[in-house]
Amino acid sequence: MDKLLIDGGVALKGSVLIDGAKNAALPALAASLLAEDREVLLQNVPSVVDIRTMCRLLGVMGATVEAEGTSIRILPGDLTSLEAPYDLVRTMRASILTLGPMLARYGYAKVSSPGGCAIGERPIDLHLAGLKAMGARIDLHEGYIEGRADRLVGAEIYLDTPSVTGTENLLMAATLAEGNTIIENAAMEPEISDLAALLKAMGASIEGEGTERIEIKGTTRLVGATHRIIPDRIETATYAAVAAISQGDILIEGTDKEMLSSVIRKMTAAGTSITPEGSGFRVSSTGRLRGVDVTTAPYPGFPTDVQAQFMAMMALAQGTSVIREMVFENRFMHVAELRRMGADIRTEGASAVVRGVPSLEGAPVMATDLRASASLVVAGLAARGRTTISRIYHLDRGYSRLEEKLSRLGARVRRVKS
Ligand code: EPU
Repeated sequence: MDKLLIDGGVALKGSVLIDGAKNAALPALAASLLAEDREVLLQNVPSVVDIRTMCRLLGVMGATVEAEGTSIRILPGDLTSLEAPYDLVRTMRASILTLGPMLARYGYAKVSSPGGCAIGERPIDLHLAGLKAMGARIDLHEGYIEGRADRLVGAEIYLDTPSVTGTENLLMAATLAEGNTIIENAAMEPEISDLAALLKAMGASIEGEGTERIEIKGTTRLVGATHRIIPDRIETATYAAVAAISQGDILIEGTDKEMLSSVIRKMTAAGTSITPEGSGFRVSSTGRLRGVDVTTAPYPGFPTDVQAQFMAMMALAQGTSVIREMVFENRFMHVAELRRMGADIRTEGASAVVRGVPSLEGAPVMATDLRASASLVVAGLAARGRTTISRIYHLDRGYSRLEEKLSRLGARVRRVKS
């Protein structure tokens, strides 16, 4: 298992190019299963482990998948297996995104139940209730979800919580259903709009994506298309945090500030300077940041996927900040590790009270999930001395060429095999 060694204390400077969004590319790969004819060509796909896992899953199902640089070509043809096996789903929950497309196109799907994970229980009841409302028969046995439908039928679906992958699964399923589907209280994340753009290019009829009410007119057939994945807003925010905490000056390129308004507001309130430049924006800070309060919420609220990185920033800020995690019930796994580096953080239920300290000290720490790991990198870059992060396979799931990008900004970081 690899470790990351970071010798902190360098103000990071230079420019960094943002990759395509992992959480947009994953549903796009699943959506390719809906194409009856012609290939789906996805561009700007990040080279991260979760994407490779999804490609393996499509391959196991019988699709032809070819990667070249940041492009992936998928020729779904006729799948030979309609099963997402435990071994793959276990390593990546997003495998559940194959359920809707398989059911819609083939009338059958067997997907291993994803179970809980480090950040919470993460049920999929809303995915299943929506598919049932579209006429699917769902059986749960031996850890698998088995769905059957002659042809899905359009339905009016209300999501109790605006689940991101739930909205994506139902959106994909509805494109091939008979009649109209309305998804109310839908997730509004930019990744949903990106998926809708791909589905429309494939021949689907969708309105209202990016709002809380999506309307889909079902059709009988979708075909391949070419689609460029949007930039990764969470990777963008992570590099913004790196610039801010290290009192650096980084031009973040190939990204879109509009997708990060809630984060930018908070970073600015904390004393970071953010200015549009080129195909992105510049983030710089001098002196100590100020403590600000943050509450996570579905888009356009402050993303739960940036909460941990922001907490690392607040650990070094002047004053106290209260961070509330309202999306997942157990997403404070980084707190204990940040404390090992000298942070003063106390959690109570869904809140963390962060009292900023003047400095953090490098320490051996352990990555527990993708974004928790990112927060340890952010903290390590600003800490005095060496931080050794173990279990960095979590980071590899969602950040491509992390050490390379950080090194180019002047960070003293390297990966070692243990
Ligand atoms: N929920 C339910 N029932 C459901 C589905 C969700 O109660 O059927 C609850 C969850 O337990 C949670 C809330 O709804 O409390 C939101 O969960 P959501 O379904 O939106 O999360 P997700 O779709 O499983 C995606 C991202 C996550 C990101 C969340 C929230 C992908 C592949 N994953 O997960 O990304 O944190 O939305 O924005 O898009 C990451 O990239 O590190 C990551 C975890």
